[in-house]
Amino acid sequence: MPVTQFSTPEKYKYQNGFGSYHESEAVEGALPVGANSPQKPPYGLYAEKLSGTAFTAPRYENQQSWLYKVLPSAAHSPFVPREANSCEANLEGDKMHQVPNQLRWDPFDLNPEMDWVHGLKLVAGAGDPTLKHGLGIFIFAAGKSMDSNEAFYSADGDFLIVLQIGVLDIQTELGRILIRPNEICVIPRGIRYRIELPNGPVRGYILELYSGHFQLPELGPIGSNCLANARDFQVPVAAFDECTTGTYKILSKFNGHLFTATQNHTPYDVVAWHGLYYPFKYDLGRFNTIGSISYDHPDPSIFTVLTAPSDHVGTAIADFVIFPPRWLVGEDTFRPPWYHRNTMSEFMGLIGGQYDAKTGGGFQPAGASLHNIMSAHGPDSGTHEKASNAQLKPMKVGEGSMAFMFESCLMVGVTEWGLRECRKVQEDYNAESWTPLEAHFKVPDGVKKVSNSV
Ligand SMILES: [Fe+2]
Repeated sequence: MPVTQFSTPEKYKYQNGFGSYHESEAVEGALPVGANSPQKPPYGLYAEKLSGTAFTAPRYENQQSWLYKVLPSAAHSPFVPREANSCEANLEGDKMHQVPNQLRWDPFDLNPEMDWVHGLKLVAGAGDPTLKHGLGIFIFAAGKSMDSNEAFYSADGDFLIVLQIGVLDIQTELGRILIRPNEICVIPRGIRYRIELPNGPVRGYILELYSGHFQLPELGPIGSNCLANARDFQVPVAAFDECTTGTYKILSKFNGHLFTATQNHTPYDVVAWHGLYYPFKYDLGRFNTIGSISYDHPDPSIFTVLTAPSDHVGTAIADFVIFPPRWLVGEDTFRPPWYHRNTMSEFMGLIGGQYDAKTGGGFQPAGASLHNIMSAHGPDSGTHEKASNAQLKPMKVGEGSMAFMFESCLMVGVTEWGLRECRKVQEDYNAESWTPLEAHFKVPDGVKKVSNSV
């Protein structure tokens, strides 16, 4: 069935369509007609523009939204640099370790004491938010809802949130979004939100994109449908707090540092909005998976959900790739992924189930692996043995499972927390996975060797 069967029912309405121009009003008539900034917007609202790209960005990538608010965002106390108990999101203060070894992590711990903002741990990354170039990879683990008078935003990049356990009830400026495991959410740079945890502790992964915004991959000869279809992306409808006064705390992630400011009006006061810059969610169960129906194992780019291109055509700062349940039917084919050295770096995680390229229990839900630039990897010895001798009947793999990959053209460094402090790195990853591989090469009697000498 091409839709995930969620145990927690949906509770919000959405608008459908990736990259579509959307508009929504929580009070009839709150959206001005025929003008963005009339002398007096309806009902005494203020018009505020939220720019996600430069004013002059070409139309195909221009992303802006107009918000109609009770009060503008500008009225607040000065931001104070860092809270005493801040998040672990500081690239500058955290030395990055560039490691050519294959790395794999045991499941990251739950952290019931933390809220969303303080449960973010930067595990890996590349580039620099001040240059708007690169990406950060976070593990999040939280057990407490953010306070109802708080709002967080990142000025550093777009958050692509991959939930592994729990439920995220997200109140954004532009409306509410419910996220359950197997759904992902993108919250673009600057959009303010708070997260409630109605089902207790949550854990998962975040790719923060410092460069540009996510888009759907080109489909080439596949045609005009398949992979993630545009209509399956869901965008919130406008919703605002009825009570608009009180003391509110704004938390800003700004170059990896956390700043706070206070204001005497709610940030959740957008009564209506229209535009192309908004948060959205997507059910990974709706992904239309493509594969070979003859032979060989295609490149994993056929599993790309969202991509963030670099300036070089076909080369991504970040691809978000999934490995959903799918049929394998290839004839005379080694069906798992091939052995591989890649100019791109590959960070993988597992939402649930067992990833079909590994037979051992080392790659577990809430764990991760990193195969950096030109780090050799591939099926472990058990998988190789099994797949080399399997009877090649049509078979379904990955049932009940969802692995994913953050792939980047950049060399991804690992933070001190990721390499040591989290205490999750598996020391025996290579020894368990590939060292046991045996050589089977044998030249049969009578086959002539070819000399390379003239
Ligand atoms: Fe690979």
